[in-house]
Amino acid sequence: MPAEFLTQKGLSYDGTEFKAIADDLQGNILKSHGRNHTAHIFFKFRPGKVAEAKAFIRSFEHLVTSAAKQKVDTNDFDTNGSQHIFTTFYLSAAGYYYLGVKDSKTPTDPQFRAGMQASAQKLADQPDQWDNGYRNQGVHGMILLGFGGGVRAQLLERETLNISNQLLRNGLAEVFVEKGDSIKNDNGDDIEHFGYVDGISQPKFFREELNPDLATNWNPMAFWDLVLVDDPGGRPGKSYGSYLVFRKLEQHVRDFKKTEQKLAQSLFNSDSELAGAMIVGRFENGMPVTLSSEDTELNAHHDPGIPVSGSFVGKLNDFTYDSDAEGARCPFHAHIRKSNPRGESKRLDPTITTEAEQLHTMARRGIIYGKRDVHPNKQKNLDKLPNGGVGLLFMSFQRSLANQFEFIQSAWVNEDNFVHGFLPGDKPTGKDPVIGQGSFDVLTHQYTRTYDNANTIDKLHAPLDPANHVNDFGKFVTTRGGEYFFAPSKTFLRTL
Ligand code: HEM
Repeated sequence: MPAEFLTQKGLSYDGTEFKAIADDLQGNILKSHGRNHTAHIFFKFRPGKVAEAKAFIRSFEHLVTSAAKQKVDTNDFDTNGSQHIFTTFYLSAAGYYYLGVKDSKTPTDPQFRAGMQASAQKLADQPDQWDNGYRNQGVHGMILLGFGGGVRAQLLERETLNISNQLLRNGLAEVFVEKGDSIKNDNGDDIEHFGYVDGISQPKFFREELNPDLATNWNPMAFWDLVLVDDPGGRPGKSYGSYLVFRKLEQHVRDFKKTEQKLAQSLFNSDSELAGAMIVGRFENGMPVTLSSEDTELNAHHDPGIPVSGSFVGKLNDFTYDSDAEGARCPFHAHIRKSNPRGESKRLDPTITTEAEQLHTMARRGIIYGKRDVHPNKQKNLDKLPNGGVGLLFMSFQRSLANQFEFIQSAWVNEDNFVHGFLPGDKPTGKDPVIGQGSFDVLTHQYTRTYDNANTIDKLHAPLDPANHVNDFGKFVTTRGGEYFFAPSKTFLRTL
């Protein structure tokens, strides 16, 4: 039975419930660490080094930033600008097995225990084509370091080298490092490499994070046990952890933007901003396309040059698709509609309430990787855009890998017949054009040119590649590797 407070919503960041668990819980789970630069140190212990590996982890524990320390550090930053390095530690199932942790102390999620590659078919992954380090269940764990910007980022470099050297010393482990560096738009919002503001829609775990007046249509407040589970290796009833999905997702920005342009020419009067919004479900500045015609002022805000500010900010997440049930404004296939249908599952089964559907959501904690010479929103010459070497280090926390990340990727995003296609007479929706995996050699995506007028819906396909075969917009993101991890309690790390 989970502790009672885990199934309550709207608890306080200053409350006794948080204080009771926050010293033993790792940071970044209930709240994002918010740093602009990260290093992800992946390691695989070498054979015959179990005692040394355990000693390393025990001695490392004091560096790990608890949820409580994260809060103190954030206050420190807010009040006097002091920056603290953020450190967390994760183990894969292969890591637990290597260390010889007892079965009764090993996290129980079946997908975690089998590892990400065991789910390859379900996720439409091709692990034989992943980067070397991730193949063959090769990773035992990951250390995440986060730091702010400026010269102090050198501290991150130094600490990364220092920890890597400790792992490499005396042949303790093999190591490789991924680096995350956020990019902001002119409004100071984090964007991803296709140029869109990311991280707007998240489950919220503390009442201080939400203005109830701006959650009248969509309420993102979540139970803590959406992400927290008992850590069987910690103190019963006191130690919590969470399952972490890590995926390195490479973005082919040039191909994406060129195809977006074709889509614009084909259906949207060469308006590439609008065509892109039909793919993502938001304009570049974060404005949801489904709201864009309901409010004429909002409508004007689809230009990425115009900051989304004032009363508009709150509206960015306070919506459902109820008033757009025909997909007249936001296509059913759009990334944010496929990955969070905001109550539309009831179309397939009326017994699925919005609250039940929300149990599939997860806390997204990713950061982008790869350097750009020119800012993503400012490079107008499409030929100069990167077609590889940049992307997203996707990370998410959840209590169940099958019911959250895997469900979203397989039952929603990759599924042609979600949210339309299952019922008799339905036309399939097609895959998510941003992250859908599997075959795109069909033409299922439907757009409406009169997107701003729900009364005159003319649904059209976009023939993007008529010379060869027609196909849906997609395949511009390639999974280069990944693994499932557990974020154990500090007690587990200390007493291993
Ligand atoms: C939202 C981009 C990968 C799930 C978004 C947004 C953008 C975006 C621009 C809108 C901002 C927001 O609503 O917070 C990308 C890119 C990806 C990627 C470029 C890969 C390179 C993924 C993956 C998943 C995912 C792998 C899950 C399997 C979501 C969810 C939302 C979202 C759940 C919020 C939808 C909502 O609540 O309305 N993404 N994403 N994304 N993405 Fe992704």
